[in-house]
Amino acid sequence: MDGLQFAKEPAPFVITIFGATGDLTRKKLIPALFSLFLKGNASQFKVIGFARRPWTKESFQKEALSMLSGSHFSHIPEGQKKAFLEKLDYVSSTFDDAAGYARLAELVKPWEGKLFYLSTPPDEYEPIIRNLGGVGLNKVDSGWSRVIVEKPFGRDLATAKELNEILSSQFEEHQIYRIDHYLGKETVQNILVLRFGNGIFEPLWNSRYIDNIQITVAESIGVGTRGNYYEKSGTLRDMVQNHIFQLMTLLLMEPPNDLSPDTVRTEKVKVLKSLRPITYKDIKNYTVRGQYAAGVVDGKPVQGYLQEEGVAKDSKTETFVALQVHVDTWRWEGVPIFIRTGKGLGRKVSEVAVTFKQPPLQVFRNQATDGGQNQLVLHIQPEEGFTFHINAKIPGYTTQVRPVNMDFAYGDAFGESTPEAYERLILDALVGDSTLYTRRDEIEASWSFITRILQGWALDTDPLPQYRAGSAGPEEAKALPASIDQKWRKL
Ligand code: BG6
Repeated sequence: MDGLQFAKEPAPFVITIFGATGDLTRKKLIPALFSLFLKGNASQFKVIGFARRPWTKESFQKEALSMLSGSHFSHIPEGQKKAFLEKLDYVSSTFDDAAGYARLAELVKPWEGKLFYLSTPPDEYEPIIRNLGGVGLNKVDSGWSRVIVEKPFGRDLATAKELNEILSSQFEEHQIYRIDHYLGKETVQNILVLRFGNGIFEPLWNSRYIDNIQITVAESIGVGTRGNYYEKSGTLRDMVQNHIFQLMTLLLMEPPNDLSPDTVRTEKVKVLKSLRPITYKDIKNYTVRGQYAAGVVDGKPVQGYLQEEGVAKDSKTETFVALQVHVDTWRWEGVPIFIRTGKGLGRKVSEVAVTFKQPPLQVFRNQATDGGQNQLVLHIQPEEGFTFHINAKIPGYTTQVRPVNMDFAYGDAFGESTPEAYERLILDALVGDSTLYTRRDEIEASWSFITRILQGWALDTDPLPQYRAGSAGPEEAKALPASIDQKWRKL
């Protein structure tokens, strides 16, 4: 287990994708594997698609070619695509048919490394895990066997624990890779480098100097064709329990002694375990839910959530969540963390804004302008980089103060595009580095906090606040930062 710092060189491997006919395979997995192949990070390997659809090796290869048709790969010579496609094979089987796994075992047994990627609806996880165990693919005499499990990982604490039990009945914890694609994003990993690779931020990174932290993950798209899935999920489960909590733990964790998977993840778990619970009596003060109504996004009229396909006409599923959370630790006592995320908002943007306290004595307070509080904004996407808002004197004979920006943009500094999250994460799983994957106690600690909110909401009979698609979310969300005389950063 090397940790974050080492170069990657996977041994010859076979990756089996359960749910190979699905959207994730098309949009992310096959493109990521092709990129690894092009960059020379994978040369001796095989990809096996495993799904119900009666495809053959040839039809899977043909489909995979269409998965590589994006502009990203348009300049790649056909010969290289062909060389990649030749590594693909396919097993057509239901997920509970032992015979399908016997065929799979024949194909994968000769390979040193075996990676099983669960990219199916979660109901299929149990039969897949048990059948892999049934044909002995969970254990290896030499080499390794690992399993990547996609989200959703449970829908509350009880179901997440159940899934962990099923997994641990067949695999050891070190073989289990619970994926969260936010951890594969360069700008998310950069949070650790910013905090612990620089001498200037960490001394300020605590309740003495930080006033509050805002985490925003806004999306302009609605639920589109995913109405059925979303009805069972909602934004709290879909975005907060996983992606946003990953951002939050990296922002709030204590410095790790080293970068090994367990050291880093142990520090992250401590943050989750220190979250002050939000129970029913607090939900009105600390949480706001909303649902998008018809509106205009990017100049085009869009329908409301209740009109989307697969959505119940009286649905109370939230498409927006804002939270105020507190982490009861020595470092963070009294620093509110504001979280907001939703669909159908005015813009797609993910960012973190760290607002610093005013200087102890505000000598410029009575000037016409005083600049306001310093803010460090980490841009996660689509812009990648950060901006430091500091105050400066406006040139002239009077002493007026105005905020100016110090900017760092990835593109300008490094001049190359950042790799896709799935590339990095798959490569990490291939070399046995689980730092950027979620450990069992981590997932259970985050569900423990989220489940209390879900239980509180279940008792709340008030109608859900609506917000116009294309806006910044429901008006009610303003109350959270207003409680400390703050505002959300403009979307
Ligand atoms: C997924 C959610 O996990 O993350 C989606 O299920 C969401 O609803 C997506 O749109 C956001 O990911 P990204 O990388 O586009 O921010």
